[in-house]
Amino acid sequence: MDHIKIFSPATVANVSCGFDVLGFCLDTIGDEMIIKKTVQKGIIISKIEGYNLPFEVKKNVAGVSALAIYNDAKPDFGFDIEIYKNIKPGSGVGSSSASAAGSVFAINELLGRPYNKTQLTKFAMKGEALASNCEHADNLAPALFGGFTLVKNLSPLQIVQLPTPNELFAVVIHPQIEIKTSESRAILPKEVSLNNAITQWANVGSLVHALHTEDYKLISESLNDVIVEPHRSKLIPYFSDVKQTAINSGALGTGISGSGPSIFSLCKGIDSANKVMDAIKNLYSKTEIAFEMYVSKINTEGIKIL
Ligand code: HSE
Repeated sequence: MDHIKIFSPATVANVSCGFDVLGFCLDTIGDEMIIKKTVQKGIIISKIEGYNLPFEVKKNVAGVSALAIYNDAKPDFGFDIEIYKNIKPGSGVGSSSASAAGSVFAINELLGRPYNKTQLTKFAMKGEALASNCEHADNLAPALFGGFTLVKNLSPLQIVQLPTPNELFAVVIHPQIEIKTSESRAILPKEVSLNNAITQWANVGSLVHALHTEDYKLISESLNDVIVEPHRSKLIPYFSDVKQTAINSGALGTGISGSGPSIFSLCKGIDSANKVMDAIKNLYSKTEIAFEMYVSKINTEGIKIL
């Protein structure tokens, strides 16, 4: 095999209570990438469509993660990367992760799969760090593993795959404003109260249990964030109206997707998801802010070869 075309999906990090540790993978939105082996050694990015991103390898997240795996594998050939970007940078659904994970996944395939998914996540973290000024894997892990993931530990990297209840659907609204991850991390407090920590870790524990037992009621009761959402929600216009509308329309829970501005809701069944989407659409259409919306089943496969 001398070239490969892949679909690298969008992801929702944090999942309300699991800041920097939980995430899940979306199905309907993602980037496409074509990676080719080249006789010339090294990494080049020859094409970027969709958004204006740097071609310079060391300034592009897909390039930086590609270099990480390339420098470790040391093949006697190189790679040419084409990026067809559909996920808007700064939208909160793992745009940088899709690029960072996509290039390492594809290069691993072209090398004959010498690395496992945890090792690929580690390489991809180098690219993600360029976008958010810190290494974290809560978007990368669901993109590479699919489904719900928990980043148990960063060093050594340990990722736990969680089960995906079959009837779970996500509704995502993306208000067309940009929030930089680095900026939305900068506004967070460095310390949290013991009371809030207790509430939060109880919610993470019960959400993990609820995913294992397909307990939709407990999923709903666990989708609460008392630590990050109170701060970040101020950056997202009409966040509390969207949340209230979604819950009133039957969503199991609603929260900020990653570092925002996208807002996700989890719903039981496609009919419920469509109802929640219509209600949010109706609400947001009355505001001055343009937006995009989609419904997605949880993608249990992650990145796939096209
Ligand atoms: N966990 C990260 C955050 C995800 O919320 O800042 C965004 O990259």
